[in-house]
Amino acid sequence: MRAARCRRYGPPGGLAVVELGDLEPGPGEVLVRVQAAAVNFPDLLLVANRYQVPAPLPFTPGSEFAGFVAALGPGVSGPPVGTAVAGAVLTGAFAEQVVVPVAGLRPIPSGLDMVHAAAFHVTYATAYHALVTVGQGVAGEWAAVLGAAGGVGSATVDVATRLGMRVVAAASSQERLAVARKLGAQATVDYVHEDLKARIRELTGGDGVHLVIDPVGGDHSEAALRALRRGGRFVTVGYADGRIPRIPLNLVLLKDAVVRGFEIRMLRQYAPDAVKAGDRVLARMVSDGMRPLVSRVHPLADVASALTDVAERRATGKVVIDMTGGV
Ligand SMILES: NC(=O)c1ccc[n+]([C@@H]2O[C@H](COP(=O)([O-])OP(=O)(O)OC[C@H]3O[C@@H](n4cnc5c(N)ncnc54)[C@H](OP(=O)(O)O)[C@@H]3O)[C@@H](O)[C@H]2O)c1
Repeated sequence: MRAARCRRYGPPGGLAVVELGDLEPGPGEVLVRVQAAAVNFPDLLLVANRYQVPAPLPFTPGSEFAGFVAALGPGVSGPPVGTAVAGAVLTGAFAEQVVVPVAGLRPIPSGLDMVHAAAFHVTYATAYHALVTVGQGVAGEWAAVLGAAGGVGSATVDVATRLGMRVVAAASSQERLAVARKLGAQATVDYVHEDLKARIRELTGGDGVHLVIDPVGGDHSEAALRALRRGGRFVTVGYADGRIPRIPLNLVLLKDAVVRGFEIRMLRQYAPDAVKAGDRVLARMVSDGMRPLVSRVHPLADVASALTDVAERRATGKVVIDMTGGV
């Protein structure tokens, strides 16, 4: 089988596509014939050896996939061979085959093809739980979404709009903001060329937003926190900027604000009921026509340039590797 390989840590341009032997599922595991795999930000961190858990070299990157069950390991009774499934792993998905614990698989919401199924769960589940489970957002509230044209950001604009919230989208250019407007954002701020706090306040009639969803970090976090209204909620989701912000705590006190964070994999362990409820709402939205924004689909041979596009902020929405194409 063909697989992307990281043989030394660094920028994703160093990834190579190689031929490897077929995989065998062990006890409790399932072999999946991968049809499509989505690029996620942690893939870049793992390749650069900047993720919280290191991946020993050499390894196959790729953490989110959709495909068909190809074989069951000892002690596994289903899903039957041939079932369409999606799933998440730490590494291994940028390959024609991946082996995963059976608990790591999920059914594909009805209506999603393999490319969209691969691009769906991580960002949309993160968006839903940031907005609702953790952020306590409700219809009619203003939500500011940073990095609004990226993977998590675009999903958050989409879900917030479908939940009836009013979104102020923030991103680094007018082209990227146009993506967020298409997904339903009512107002936009170019946070490279405009004052984020001042513009959010202006756009919300001087009051500020009820909720901030922040997958970016860096200097934007404090500016967005300052644009919260009294009693507002700030959800820290990730640090695509690369710099983890240090926030003066008196801002939290003065605004009577709530600052919370969460990690989607941990949420499955400590809030399984919330995760199930979220999956139901998201499946309903998919049946109403919601689809993740997939801006580019690359063959496996182009995996290095696909990841480079994400690393260099050129991609919008999701970038997907289609494993079914030729070399
Ligand atoms: N907490 C969780 O459970 C969870 C789940 C999924 C992802 N995450 C985290 O959330 C963050 C975003 O993930 P994502 O999938 O949305 O990534 P993404 O698709 O690459 O989007 C990140 C966005 O951040 C903005 N950005 C600002 N400074 C950047 C920089 N120096 N480099 C790259 N992007 C920069 C970019 O938009 P502009 O150019 O418009 O600014 C980009 O669209 C990551 O840190 C990821 O690990 C957390």
